[in-house]
Parts: sequence; C-alpha cells; structure tokens
Amino acid sequence: MPITTCIFDAYGTLFDVAAAARQAASEPQFFKIKETWPQLAEHWRLKQLQYTWLRAITQAHTDFWEVTQDGLDWALEKCGVDGDEELRERLLALYWELQAYPEVPEMLQTLKAAGLNTAILSNGSPDMLDGAVQSAGIEILLDDNLSVQSVGIFKPDSRVYDLVGQRFGCAKDEVLFVSSNGWDAAGATGYGFTTAWVNRSGEPMDRMPWKPKHVLRNLTDIPKIVGL
Ligand code: LAC
Repeated sequence: MPITTCIFDAYGTLFDVAAAARQAASEPQFFKIKETWPQLAEHWRLKQLQYTWLRAITQAHTDFWEVTQDGLDWALEKCGVDGDEELRERLLALYWELQAYPEVPEMLQTLKAAGLNTAILSNGSPDMLDGAVQSAGIEILLDDNLSVQSVGIFKPDSRVYDLVGQRFGCAKDEVLFVSSNGWDAAGATGYGFTTAWVNRSGEPMDRMPWKPKHVLRNLTDIPKIVGL
C-alpha cells in the first residue's frame, strides 16, 4: 500500500530536546552549567525515558510532565547542581518552547502539499505538545497531536500506536512512522508500521527484535521515502 499518513515522534525527532539546557547554559546567571550542559541534557533525557518505561511495566502511569520533572531532578543532582530553584524553573520553562530542527517546516510543507496526513504521536501530554508545536510555528502543517494521555500508557505499548489507525482510519501499512528514538522506531516496526529512524548522532542500532526500514541522518529525505 502507498503511504498516506506520516506520523512523527515529538521529542528529539521534531523538537531538539537538548535546546533547553543549551539555551540556559548560554545565559550568564546559569554559568555553572556552561561546560556541563551536554551531560545534564543527556542524563535528563535518559532518565525521563527510563521513567516512562518503568511506569509502563509497573502500571504506574503518570503525566509526561511529571516524568520530565523527575528526570530533570535526577540529572541536576547527578551533575551536582541540584537545589538551584531558578535554574530548575528556567530549564522546565524552556522545555515548553523547544526549537524544531531547521528542516522540519519545509519537510512538513512538502508532505501537506502532496495531500498526506501528518501528525505527532508522542508520550507528551496534549498541553506540552500544543506549546511546542505553537512555539515552533508548525501547527498548520500538522493534522493532529496524538498523545498517549488518552490511553494511559507510554510507548512502545501497542495501544499507543493504535491511536494512528483510530484517528486516520488507515491500515498499518499506509503509515510511515518517524522517530529519532531507536527503541521507538523498533517498537513501531514490530507493530507493523513502515518506519524511519532519524539517527542524527550516529548511534548504534538498538538490539531489539525489529529493525527500522529506513535510517536517516535528519528529516530532509522523508518526502523522498514516501515517493515525492
Ligand atoms: C515522544 C518521546 C518518546 O515524543 O520522544 O514520545
């Protein structure tokens, strides 16, 4: 079946999750993370994701905003900068207005001009996704922001991927699912979507039972993959 529907993971895929720590580190009052912000960003991201998996397997679901804060608190302590409430608040505020990667608007524009369905499918809560999409100015290029909130479990549970067919009435093989998270691209492959893993930093392939169909360095070639 030809691809009719392009679905994007949000954090790390359309939006640069390192942008919050990078931006705060450039502000004079937060000089204490001037050198260490890349480690802070990495610990924050990894803990945030680990908490989603742990909460999924222990059936202790919560809002993505809560695991985002929990991951940040762990990372601040790990980097020895916990207890600075101003820094914590600044990082959290920046998470609501993450930059989109530079190629995102044109790529989405090309898909929309060709009449494809486009949407986000994310662990993010609806209000977090609205904030990010609006601050990136891409809301008119997306048909919807699908959030795990309506199913009450995080990725890669299949009930999350089910949201796509429910929203667009399409078969699994009409969907291109795009994620920068290797485990998410693998999970979606196992589910039955055609997948593209956006591997910006040259990470090794995740050792999962399923491999993404396409591996890309950025999002520029997404239209080409769907035959545009
Ligand atoms: C998301 C996370 C996994 O947007 O990046 O769902």
